[in-house]
Amino acid sequence: MRPDEKNPPDVMTSKDVPLLHRADVIAAYAPADRAAPHLRLGFIASIDGAATREGVSGGLGNADDRLVFETLRMLCDVILVGAGTVRAEGYGGVRVDEESVAWRVENGLSPQPRLALVTSRLDFDPRHPFFEGAAERPEALRPIVVTTSASDPAMRAAFADVADVVVCGETGVDPALMVASLHAAGLTQLHCEGGPSLFGSLIAADLVDELCLTVSPVLDGGDSGRISAGSAATPRPMRLLHATPAGSMLFLRYERDRGAPQ
Ligand SMILES: NC(=O)c1ccc[n+]([C@@H]2O[C@H](COP(=O)([O-])OP(=O)(O)OC[C@H]3O[C@@H](n4cnc5c(N)ncnc54)[C@H](OP(=O)(O)O)[C@@H]3O)[C@@H](O)[C@H]2O)c1
Repeated sequence: MRPDEKNPPDVMTSKDVPLLHRADVIAAYAPADRAAPHLRLGFIASIDGAATREGVSGGLGNADDRLVFETLRMLCDVILVGAGTVRAEGYGGVRVDEESVAWRVENGLSPQPRLALVTSRLDFDPRHPFFEGAAERPEALRPIVVTTSASDPAMRAAFADVADVVVCGETGVDPALMVASLHAAGLTQLHCEGGPSLFGSLIAADLVDELCLTVSPVLDGGDSGRISAGSAATPRPMRLLHATPAGSMLFLRYERDRGAPQ
């Protein structure tokens, strides 16, 4: 997760006030047709490809990145996140801000997007901050836990009070089954905040419709990983939709080019 109080951004060109305007950002990222199923990924990386600094991504961002990050959350039906990211970044209390709530309600959406945690092992505590406030939410808005039949049935039962537990696969979460089950639940606009392993499996399954990438103006060096991780290269051609600078921060939006030769 990029907004990170523990790791204040230190590569900012705009410190606390974004250069971009919220209305322009909404216009640049709003889905053309909400009924059409769509999987969007959102990441940040340094110019030399580092996806993290000191193990988290927050240190790469700034106020403009936070605005885009918030907007992508606001526009979706469900925020998907892999267990590794939830563990590393201390995800908790994920909520869009009041302005976003107002926009969502005005546009006929639930006040908050749903949350979906992707974990094959389900080695989590139902009291993890990710599920904060979940028991009080209406059933239709509770978080979703996407897991496998190999996960501990007692753990799946323990989550029943705070989440809808969906089994998609045997030993590893099957990305295609996961996406299909979210669509079947009426969630068409899927927004995945990573991390790299989950992204890699979505690339391998050719399920990625869009990538929103923030290029942070810094050469990071070191040995941080990339934004995707996987065992085999599976090149998927993408088409650039926009490249928007804000100071030295660059916002790239790519869509999958399914007509291009692989
Ligand atoms: N730069 C950025 O924008 C950005 C964004 C997000 C994360 N990150 C960074 O990425 C790092 C975490 O990386 P990660 O790769 O461990 O995170 P991840 O992709 O969020 O999580 C991987 C975990 O997701 C679960 N999973 C379930 N099904 C899966 C599937 N089909 N494919 C892949 N994973 C599946 C597994 O959890 P179980 O072990 O529970 O089974 C797996 O260990 C952190 O340092 C974080 O800061 C950076």
